[in-house]
Amino acid sequence: MKNISIYVNQHKDRFLNELIELLKIPSISADSAYKDDVIKTAQVVKTRLEEAGCDHVEICETDGYPIVYGEKIIDNNLPTVLVYGHYDVQPPDPLILWNSPPFEPVIKKTDLHPEGAIFARGACDDKGQMYMHVKAMEFMTKTNQLPCNVKFMIEGEEEVGSSNLAVYVKENQKKLKNDVILISDTGMIAKDVPSITTGLRGLSYVEVEVTGPNRDLHSGLYGGAVANPINILTKMIASLHNENNHITIPGFYDKVENLSKEERAEMAKAPFSLEAYKKSLDIDAVYGEAGYTTNERNSIRPTLDVNGIWGGYTGEGAKTVIASKAFAKISMRLVPHQDWEEITQLFKKHFESIAPKGVTVNVKPHHGGQGYVTPIDSIGYQAASKAYFDSFGKTPIPQRSGGSIPIVSLFEQELKSKTILMGFGLDSDAIHSPNEHFGLFNYYKGIETIPLFYKYFTELSK
Ligand code: BES
Ligand code: MN
Ligand code: MN
Repeated sequence: MKNISIYVNQHKDRFLNELIELLKIPSISADSAYKDDVIKTAQVVKTRLEEAGCDHVEICETDGYPIVYGEKIIDNNLPTVLVYGHYDVQPPDPLILWNSPPFEPVIKKTDLHPEGAIFARGACDDKGQMYMHVKAMEFMTKTNQLPCNVKFMIEGEEEVGSSNLAVYVKENQKKLKNDVILISDTGMIAKDVPSITTGLRGLSYVEVEVTGPNRDLHSGLYGGAVANPINILTKMIASLHNENNHITIPGFYDKVENLSKEERAEMAKAPFSLEAYKKSLDIDAVYGEAGYTTNERNSIRPTLDVNGIWGGYTGEGAKTVIASKAFAKISMRLVPHQDWEEITQLFKKHFESIAPKGVTVNVKPHHGGQGYVTPIDSIGYQAASKAYFDSFGKTPIPQRSGGSIPIVSLFEQELKSKTILMGFGLDSDAIHSPNEHFGLFNYYKGIETIPLFYKYFTELSK
């Protein structure tokens, strides 16, 4: 592609300022207090897509937050790339742990980002990465180098499960017809180690409630004589892993894909330092399922984690009380072939079965999705690999990620096309955590790499 780095360099301040404007809007999909901001963000995305050269840009209403759709069809005989991203963000709390307010973006240097990184909620997940595609589109249209058709579909409910997008995709298969789906909502191994994400884990998210006595009780008068829901809940949760950190739910591992020795050896080649990993998290040891390495534990193996637990008295000082109820939110990350609805049922059945007499248990499924794996011999993967080679000077490493984007497997099912996950974030960018950031190097490099994908994908499709 002609002049891509020159173009990015010429416009880099504007590219950054536009992203800053987007990051200032608190588009927190989980919190209804931010409803107007989420809707406003969709409007801004619409305007930016129009400015970048998309036609027929529209705000598609759903039962939840809108989907922004835009396209540029230059020739029906050419391939079509469908870009997906999300404009919603995670809640920023706890606010006290942020070094600067989450919706007042600032540029700061870090050890890993000596040229600067932009700090704000959504900087990496996914406003920054989504916006790289808008700017790549601008470059291709403004310099007359768009080699194929493009469709954009940017949603506002990824962080809350994409249920309305699923409906939209099922109802709009013709409109969304494409030859490949392109997403930047994952990470890369390191700034000098480009990688392409070839797998995502599935997810089953549940909330559990344990109820004991019909009211909160004096812990002296009743303590020892009735089941304490918090004691029981923590005991039940502890029993979900055995001494080898295997999950004890019967049937949980039945469909888990077992990787061959060769595949595991291939995975182990990716550069990784356990010492640096521990140091970056200030831990003296890693922890996980026996028989697997850290990178296996967080990608090819399923897991179960408590995400939140509450009940009883948590205010200042002490209150002697046995709570009537205890609660927890639990997520299970799943691997290919495990069906999330089946796993949810297995969890429910097991969790109810281990409840002792004296309490009742209620398991409420939240949301979930299937895992995803993509082959590395597809045209899409090859095009992405060549694009990275041109912009980084290195062939990218295929890598399975531990995160989830549940809608990706639905895309494959409904639209019959493969997804290419070109992520430019780093694990240390603190997505979902306080002080989320995105390196300026990564942002600009992403903008430079994306048009090359279009070019090679079009060439290889011939
Ligand atoms: N972009 C992330 C997923 C991700 C991040 C995948 C890094 C791979 C590497 C996405 O926004 C996300 O947070 N997904 C949720 C699931 C969703 C249903 C809430 C997740 O993985 O927890
Ligand atoms: Mn995301
Ligand atoms: Mn996320």
